[in-house]
Amino acid sequence: MIPRFEDFEPLLTEGEIAARVRELGAEIARELKPASELVVVGVLKGSLVFMADLIRALPPEVTCDFLRVSSYEGTESTGTVRFDFDLTQPITGKHVLIVEDIVDTGVTMHFLLEALQVRHPKTLKIAALLDKPARRKREVPVDWKGFTIEDRFVIGYGLDLEGRYRNLPYIAALDRKVQSALRTAAAESQRVKVQTVDLPRGA
Ligand code: IMP
Repeated sequence: MIPRFEDFEPLLTEGEIAARVRELGAEIARELKPASELVVVGVLKGSLVFMADLIRALPPEVTCDFLRVSSYEGTESTGTVRFDFDLTQPITGKHVLIVEDIVDTGVTMHFLLEALQVRHPKTLKIAALLDKPARRKREVPVDWKGFTIEDRFVIGYGLDLEGRYRNLPYIAALDRKVQSALRTAAAESQRVKVQTVDLPRGA
């Protein structure tokens, strides 16, 4: 079952987000100098709105690039990530800032740090609008975070549910009861799948 828009409640307002993004921009600009060596890397698609606002809070000399990764749960509990498309420029000797919508399990960011570190940037830092530490499977150093949130599924300001709601100008969270009911249903269907797979042939 896919939750409906009515199952979400406002979590962060447009004003709260805008004020925090301005603060992050000022902090990043103070630390990562000169701005002409700063490459801001947006991780598509979730970072698109945050990226657009954050770069406008940074000095005009920065350059921007994008990459896209997909993650899927494999047989390992950590899941697997791969590039859909990569950066268009070398980052050797540059200050690189990865811009993400949310760090959840940390699997995607861990993969990206390893993949970009071998290209020898001068520095490699992370700015994430949201941090959901309760779900972490991989430890990642989030250098600049907008907000730390509880273990709740969120939409809006770039974050989606099945491709929708990225254009919502604020962030909304799934109702706690609905989220817990969905998780119970998902765990139950996983249990049934495992039992079916485990059945001996001919049973
Ligand atoms: P990871 O689990 O840290 O690897 O996060 C991978 C991606 O999952 C993020 O970049 C988001 O695009 C997506 N994601 C994680 N949590 C949420 C959420 O609450 N709402 C929407 N997308 C999410």
